[in-house]
Amino acid sequence: MHRDDFGTDFTWGVASAAWQIEGAWDSHDKTPSIWDHAGHHRRVSGGAVGDDAIDFAHRFRDDLALVASLGFGAKRLSLSWPRLIPGGTGEVSSRGVEFYREVFESCRTNGLEPWVTLYHWDLPRSLHERGGWATRDAVEWFADYAESVASVLGDVVGRWMIANEPSMHALHHLLGVFDRTPSLTRYVRVAHHQTLAIAEAARRMRKVLGEDAVIGTTHQALPIWIRNENTAWGSRASRAWDTAMNRMFLDPLGGLGYPWGEAPLIDRVLRTVVRDGDEDAATHRFDFLGVQYYQPQVVKRAPIPGLWALPIPPLRPPKSFQPVTTAMGWVVEPSGLSDVLRRWAGHPVAERLVVTENGAAFRDELTVDAEGNRRVHDALRTWYYRTHLAEVASAIADGVPVDGYFAWSYADNIEWMLGRKPRFGLVYVDYDNDLQRTPKDSALWFQRFLSGIDVDA
Ligand code: BGC
Repeated sequence: MHRDDFGTDFTWGVASAAWQIEGAWDSHDKTPSIWDHAGHHRRVSGGAVGDDAIDFAHRFRDDLALVASLGFGAKRLSLSWPRLIPGGTGEVSSRGVEFYREVFESCRTNGLEPWVTLYHWDLPRSLHERGGWATRDAVEWFADYAESVASVLGDVVGRWMIANEPSMHALHHLLGVFDRTPSLTRYVRVAHHQTLAIAEAARRMRKVLGEDAVIGTTHQALPIWIRNENTAWGSRASRAWDTAMNRMFLDPLGGLGYPWGEAPLIDRVLRTVVRDGDEDAATHRFDFLGVQYYQPQVVKRAPIPGLWALPIPPLRPPKSFQPVTTAMGWVVEPSGLSDVLRRWAGHPVAERLVVTENGAAFRDELTVDAEGNRRVHDALRTWYYRTHLAEVASAIADGVPVDGYFAWSYADNIEWMLGRKPRFGLVYVDYDNDLQRTPKDSALWFQRFLSGIDVDA
């Protein structure tokens, strides 16, 4: 495999999100986000570990130089809404703006193109207390935020993603991470309001930024793997899961409307929130779709009497689906990535695709030799990247329009509710030793690959 297999204009980058890396949770006028609040209220393993996270807010210059030294040409990062608009709505913080301008300037100094996500799940807590994504007001709050961001940062950023994986974020609401009680109704309401907000925000940004800005949005891609797919139950369950995890988020944006009739429990709630004209308002054509792939969703039949048709995720993947799993317990199945790229290639939401996240957590160990050299031998992660990149190359060879690939993540960071434990980074962060950074073997593999060395030779 050679980087030329991906074409000469292909974007190579690494990704991260504000809350997972920045720290400085109350600096620059910033107010708490829903994740700060969750960390402060024992909803995050390890507690308030997001307060400092990996201190990107103070170390970004070194981190960006390190990313550039590995050969990457792009850095995907997200903006913290409560850092930029501490009140949630209204006035923009000049200190917040200044912080991000410095970050983008440092990206450019290091030859990294910033790819910026407006929203990676960190709603201002004050807005959550006013109903958050479960209220329709969130559509207007978000569109206003997008418009403000475009006005204050549009001159230094050319590539935008409106939102990160709305399906996962709806899932947080379903599980009750911010409200304590699980609720399917909340899941559907949050999903619908996010969809309306993404379309409206994209229109508002376009108005401010004009035709030159590249505006995409990202979605989690979950191929559904089901036992007994060929039975009546299997095919029905497969369509219901595909609706709940993929189609109800993507199809309305693409102008296809909701996939009514595939998931009755979801339909029942959707009917109470979708108003006349919403499916048109949700439609927007993006410049690219960000595809985020980690694993297939394995589903088996629920052993609950009366709910025979309700698929539930197994706690552990069934043996037959279990070649290798990551430290998250996720199935490693590289072919899932080319499957979703091929499947979404023709989706009306966007003509072009970019893999905006792909990566894995493994149990990494830092070794220090007698000379003090620090190494992390993460052969499994290197294998993960190699095999997944081979799938991207094969999709491109078949004519699928994929323009870039972002590894998740550039460094270990705070994995939401799971805190510091899962390590997704190409760079190891030593939490016991002043957050010291050490590039793992997988990072050095990328460095060789991106320098043009044929890694199969
Ligand atoms: C999210 C990241 C997260 C990663 C691994 C993606 O769903 O966008 O923020 O860390 O998955 O779980």
